Amino acid sequence: MKQPIRIGALISGSGTNLQAIMDACASGDIDGRIAFIGSDTPDAAGLERGRRLNIPTFVVNYGSIIRRYKKAPETLTVPDDFDLSTVLSKQTLFPADADGKTVKAFFITRAAAEAELLDRMTPYPFDLLVLAGFMRNLTPYFIDRVNTVPDLPRIMNIHPALLPAFPGIDGYGDTFRYGCKIGGCTVHFVDYGEDSGPIIGQKAYEISGEDTLASVRKKGLKLEWELYPECVKMFADGRLKKVRKTYLLKDGGKMYRTVVKILPSPQR
Ligand code: GAR
Repeated sequence: MKQPIRIGALISGSGTNLQAIMDACASGDIDGRIAFIGSDTPDAAGLERGRRLNIPTFVVNYGSIIRRYKKAPETLTVPDDFDLSTVLSKQTLFPADADGKTVKAFFITRAAAEAELLDRMTPYPFDLLVLAGFMRNLTPYFIDRVNTVPDLPRIMNIHPALLPAFPGIDGYGDTFRYGCKIGGCTVHFVDYGEDSGPIIGQKAYEISGEDTLASVRKKGLKLEWELYPECVKMFADGRLKKVRKTYLLKDGGKMYRTVVKILPSPQR
């Protein structure tokens, strides 16, 4: 019989999405269990959700690592297996003309933090890593050490907007301020860019003239709590397949894109 999947979770905040996934595991909707909960800040209230259930939790304090680098860069040790030029050649978080010093500082501090994350995760093997309100971009250094099997991505993220619109840190705010009449949320696999990986699922809600940013966020979160468990369930049921598509364009050129194909539900 198939084993329940082991789900690792990274959070930064209240962890309501994590709770929705935990509830779906508890009810049997998802054939899985939470293996660990990690956070980039000790202030993440969601850590308590794990502690209550004796799920292993840990913190890798990104803020203190970044502050330390700013104060005394030479005191920060980067992992032995970190190679800045490899990471730079893969990343799509920064444009090619971005300030070199800023970019270098970003990847060095993230390598230190991500090496610690990988270290803290090692005792808890997992099949899927869910980013549930984790407000840090992961770099190729970390992603390549989790996605070790070609074509089997296993880091998922939820984003509070209908991607590819409004990537970044304030999806609901960006949607609302733009005057969108429809907003939504997206679950996707993580790639080397910011909220740019192949889309697994999306849900949408209407925005009326009476809506406020708070009511937009409320509508969106309600959908997130449905969408994320549904996508994790599809992963657990082996229904997500990464496929590379080729499209012929009007000008005769070709376009390539990696998308997620959803396989039919397993027949029981
Ligand atoms: C959610 O709205 C999630 O989509 C968003 O943070 C919130 C976390 O809430 N994530 C991002 O913006 C990631 N870029 P939660 O901690 O209660 O699940």
